[in-house]
Amino acid sequence: MIYFDNGSTSYPKAPGVGEAMANLLAHAGFNANRGGYSGAYAVEDMVLDTRELVCRLFHWDDPKGVIFTANVTQSLNMLLKGYLAPGDHVVVSSLEHNAVMRPLTQLVKHGVAFDAAQADAAGVLPVERVEALLRPQTKLVALTHASNVCGTVLPICEVGALCKKRGVRFVVDSAQTAGVLPIDLQALGADALAFTGHKGLLGPQGIGGMVIAEDFAQALTPLLSGGTGSASDSEEVPPFLPDKFESGTLNLPGIAGLRAALGYVLSAGTATLHSAEMALAARFLQGAETLSGVRIVGKKDTQGRVAVVSLDFTPASLDNAMVAYKLDSEYGIMTRCGLHCAPRAHKTLGTFPQGTIRFAFGHRNTAQEVDICIDALTKIIREG
Ligand SMILES: Cc1ncc(COP(=O)(O)O)c(C=O)c1O
Repeated sequence: MIYFDNGSTSYPKAPGVGEAMANLLAHAGFNANRGGYSGAYAVEDMVLDTRELVCRLFHWDDPKGVIFTANVTQSLNMLLKGYLAPGDHVVVSSLEHNAVMRPLTQLVKHGVAFDAAQADAAGVLPVERVEALLRPQTKLVALTHASNVCGTVLPICEVGALCKKRGVRFVVDSAQTAGVLPIDLQALGADALAFTGHKGLLGPQGIGGMVIAEDFAQALTPLLSGGTGSASDSEEVPPFLPDKFESGTLNLPGIAGLRAALGYVLSAGTATLHSAEMALAARFLQGAETLSGVRIVGKKDTQGRVAVVSLDFTPASLDNAMVAYKLDSEYGIMTRCGLHCAPRAHKTLGTFPQGTIRFAFGHRNTAQEVDICIDALTKIIREG
């Protein structure tokens, strides 16, 4: 079995993740902020510790600004819908995932407008294309840090500086980069970074969050309201962080798993994890160049990208879904085929509607697995 679907979710998870979750459920399954006993305090400490690890990873100094949610999708919904009002204008890229595009499309029905800065056919987006779309009504720029289709990294540092200069809020979707690329939120100047725990952070599904600047948080209306275990004398949502955005019981087993994963990522180092994955991506790209009639979608080199590579087999007169099916059923190689929840990215890259097969390499893949995959693809193409 060879798993190349790490762009969807990482597998296997970091060492210790499953144990941390099982241990919490078996021995310390108490609630946080809702119990006056030592077991509950220990769970609260565990949650705070996890917030601090998130701060370490993203170079942020205020653990209260770390909000836990179910995933990056929920965080992006909270940020976009909590902030934007009728008449507001938003700039995104043409590589966004539906986690940004669907909330925005809903907001359009309520009087919000958006423009998408067009990346080129290789998935590269110059900052000038974002700048050209800013107008007086532009309240927010939302950008994915890296494309989940072709892996190119977007210029978030330059866009962050631009947004600061123009007084526009900046939100980053780090789904494909958290845990593999260095992200320094202080330097970046983003108002919020949305993250998901189960991809490059190597944690479990169902836990994610956002890191948010205090003044941006104060400008947001929370999507959810309810019990927080704090300020219980009031029927208003508490105005302070993180409680303002954490109504309802948190996913504590998920946070325990994320804590173990963050510990691993921080001690292994994002640079080490990224360079190991990129070595595999480089080997795969080299092999893909030899595949007759197959198009490498996006950049063909390893500069400015993460280890997510898309191939299109339709120029070789093959159906992408059939190739992915054969990879799985005949060779035990798991990939993802289709549009990857990002139709606009495929229109940008010239792979709409046929989509691509995505090969996304992870921390436990090997060079041998890459070679087996290239051999398998060679055979599949030969057989037609
Ligand atoms: C760029 C990007 N944004 C958002 C998401 C959504 O992630 P999640 O399903 O964890 O919310 C994904 C992953 O599918 C992604 O690749």
